[in-house]
Amino acid sequence: MNEMTPLPCATSARSGKQARGLHVITWGCQMNVYDSERMTDVLRPLGYEAVDAPDRADMIILNTCHIRDRAAEKVFSELGRLRLVKEARAQAGQQTVLAVAGCVAQAEGREILARAPYVDIVLGPQTYHRLPEMVARAARAAGAVIETDFPVEQKFDFLPPEREVPEGGAAFLTIQEGCDKFCSFCVVPYTRGAEASRPVAAVLEEARRLVAHGVREITLLGQNVNAYHGEGPDGATWDLARLATELADRVGVERIRYTTSHPRDMGDGLIAAHRDLPALMPFLHLPVQSGSDRILAAMNRGHTAQEYRDLVVRLRAARPDLALSSDFIVGHPGETDEDFEQTMQLIRDVGFAQAYSFKYSPRPGTPASNAGAQVPEDVKDARLQRLQALLREQQDAFNAASVGQRVRVLFTGRGRKPGQISGKSPYLQAVHVEGPDSLIGQVAEVDIVKLYTNSLGGVLTGETERA
Ligand code: SAH
Ligand code: SF4
Ligand code: F3S
Repeated sequence: MNEMTPLPCATSARSGKQARGLHVITWGCQMNVYDSERMTDVLRPLGYEAVDAPDRADMIILNTCHIRDRAAEKVFSELGRLRLVKEARAQAGQQTVLAVAGCVAQAEGREILARAPYVDIVLGPQTYHRLPEMVARAARAAGAVIETDFPVEQKFDFLPPEREVPEGGAAFLTIQEGCDKFCSFCVVPYTRGAEASRPVAAVLEEARRLVAHGVREITLLGQNVNAYHGEGPDGATWDLARLATELADRVGVERIRYTTSHPRDMGDGLIAAHRDLPALMPFLHLPVQSGSDRILAAMNRGHTAQEYRDLVVRLRAARPDLALSSDFIVGHPGETDEDFEQTMQLIRDVGFAQAYSFKYSPRPGTPASNAGAQVPEDVKDARLQRLQALLREQQDAFNAASVGQRVRVLFTGRGRKPGQISGKSPYLQAVHVEGPDSLIGQVAEVDIVKLYTNSLGGVLTGETERA
């Protein structure tokens, strides 16, 4: 799961009863993107419609991420900006409900209310099904509302079945949430709670609706998505391989992805699914974090560097065109130059098509944050630069090798230039072609002819897959 640059909420709503503006700001991983969409769904029956400017919004939700760096500071500075919006609207006689959601809300809810008393609602990731009630309570001006419990009920059981389907033929679907792995550096087990899988029937139902609305590609989400173990309609426990097979064969999902996976949960059945299911895209995000056994142990990752290498060999044997992406942390407490060199060696040995890499950032309450031997900032900087240069080389080489290839592209929207449309290759590379808007949401065959810095240029071959 990767933190991404702030996204404006991409949801738009059908006309409700009495239109009220809703502006959602989403930071963090894909799961937050999914959550933002679902919060919009929950509020739609109350008449809320997505608007893209906060000053037109009767309700603003800031959906936050706590994974790295000065997460809380970033939230407070954004809240300062939103406070001005709220005050300006109040002067014009308009009320604004301001809510903070997501992982910072979960971890630091009380502090948010203390430091930003103009915030009306604080809600953790497990309570957004209770939003309508919270909005009602906030509107009664009974003071700020905070909901950061981990309720016994699963929020998914209380969400409206209808969901606004994003344009462009691709959608996220959360199938598993929370994490019990407690890696030394990570806040997720504290912000998202214990690992829980959604029942198979609920996942299939949501996928069917998406497909019926023209979705071609579904990315199954979970903090440890390959540890999925949902209760099946047959009473058996289904793993991810069985779920993916059902989605491909019976629900008719053309392209399936899943993220984020843990190397420890990459079982034989799932590896075999990569061999047997053409719908499973040949691109796998499999975070390794480090190439040093000492650091992997300190991180509590539960596998060695060699076990990761072996796993990659088995995956590539199952699906020879499989490409990998990963996450790396440099400067975990105790990391020496030698440990770091082992990470560089692992990168050279495996070869990644793409990767995210971060300087270790101490998170309050996690074991690594008060471990001895914290690595100095300048050392982390230097290591990150070298690591990113190597990863960049590999990524450029992978993209360059795509030129001359024929690939199937799912077109997700218009390009930057008029007459241009953009989409993604099986390897999530951005591809731009000259083509009609009617192809948006469709899969079409493209000859890749040009390499740009972060994307590819192509030409349509004229063959489009039937919807
Ligand atoms: N569940 C996923 C990762 C979720 S967090 C997994 O186990 O791989 C996404 C990425 O953020 C992690 O893979 C890690 O590389 C990075 N990350 C998490 N906590 C971090 C921290 N304290 N400092 C730096 N990077 C961190
Ligand atoms: Fe965090 Fe580790 Fe769980 Fe991933 S597996 S979410 S890194 S604790
Ligand atoms: Fe961030 Fe929470 Fe996702 S901390 S990465 S939004 S699980």
